[in-house]
Amino acid sequence: MKMKTLGLSLVAATLVSLTGTALSASEAPRLAPKTYPAGEVGKMVKLGEDILAHTDTNPLTKDMVGDNLQCTSCHLKGTDGKPGTGTGIGTFIGTATSFPAYSKREKTVQSLQDRINNCFMRSMNGERPIIDTKASVAMATYITWLSTGMPMKMDTKRPCSPLNSNRWAKNAKKFAKIQRKATHANYVSGQKLYEAKCSSCHGIDGAGVAGAFPPLWGQDKNGRWRAYNTGAGLSKLNKGAAWVQSNMPLGQGYTLKDQDAADIMLYVDAQPRADFDLQKGLFPKDKMGYYNSKVLHETHNVHSNFKQFGLDVDVIRGDKKIK
Ligand code: HEC
Ligand code: HEC
Repeated sequence: MKMKTLGLSLVAATLVSLTGTALSASEAPRLAPKTYPAGEVGKMVKLGEDILAHTDTNPLTKDMVGDNLQCTSCHLKGTDGKPGTGTGIGTFIGTATSFPAYSKREKTVQSLQDRINNCFMRSMNGERPIIDTKASVAMATYITWLSTGMPMKMDTKRPCSPLNSNRWAKNAKKFAKIQRKATHANYVSGQKLYEAKCSSCHGIDGAGVAGAFPPLWGQDKNGRWRAYNTGAGLSKLNKGAAWVQSNMPLGQGYTLKDQDAADIMLYVDAQPRADFDLQKGLFPKDKMGYYNSKVLHETHNVHSNFKQFGLDVDVIRGDKKIK
């Protein structure tokens, strides 16, 4: 596809999702620059690109990952095959233009490196890389390169690309309203939809297919948790639904109806998943360096994630299988 040679308005006008809603210009695909920067900067961009796609095998990051996901599991590759250039929520195009940015969760102004670390502790169920080590700089360099030529747009509300910021907030609000009304019937509907539309890739048991399709929940036979923990954005019933609606099923973003996306994530996020304890994600104190947050204690589990929406996961599931 020769997207880059088309005017943006033309691209937007030609992109119509299967539900018939035209994608706005901000949702139109924008890709990585065609050439790498020269010299050492180019080398760092390439290293960062490798880490994002192979987070659990790259020697600089593999020990910090506590599940079987890569950054690209959620920050999807676009048509150019580069990490984080997909069109859904989670694109890294424009991300660097919004930092430093305020984060409500940490109650501080965050750098891009801080923000990257937070996905390590939550979405990757792991530990944060020390800020300014090679891995941390490399990931930030790659993500910054993706905003080449874009104007600065510092975000005073959330640490988020201008392409994500509004739709993320708006959709999270929309889905929160829907999830608050959830019942056991929605869970049953979510399971049926999951089995019909998702399990071919992610497995009936949520284990995924190694090397091809990432896992969504559960533990492997060695007790290692497979996917994001209960502190991750996707573990929240509203944010999970917003992300899934814009990215899944793979290649068919924006085809799920609101209620269906909500029900599917009600089902997925009611399955077993690692508890989140912020203190555990921080390195042992001697290695930790400075952690840029005013919030130093935060814990979540599946029960508390449902409670946040006024729901009891035992009632929603209809059993007492979640600890
Ligand atoms: C399980 C899914 C998941 C994984 C895996 C994941 N993230 Fe994220 N990440 C998210 C979600 C959800 C957001 C918030 C959505 C948003 O802001 O667009 C986010 C936001 C971010 C942001 C802020 C960007 C922006 O424009 O919003 C950065 C930077 C980031 N992640 C980096 C990473 C890196 C680096 C990795 C790998 C070490 C990673 N993430 C792994 C789900 C994930
Ligand atoms: C055709 C295969 C396919 C289908 C069908 C599919 N996915 Fe995915 N899904 C993927 C791939 C592949 C990724 C990771 C992106 C990558 O590696 O390029 C992913 C990533 C995800 C992630 C984030 C990463 C993780 O493992 O936590 C979630 C959540 C997810 N899918 C949920 C769903 C849901 C819900 C459905 C059904 C509505 C669905 N998927 C349907 C292939 C698929």
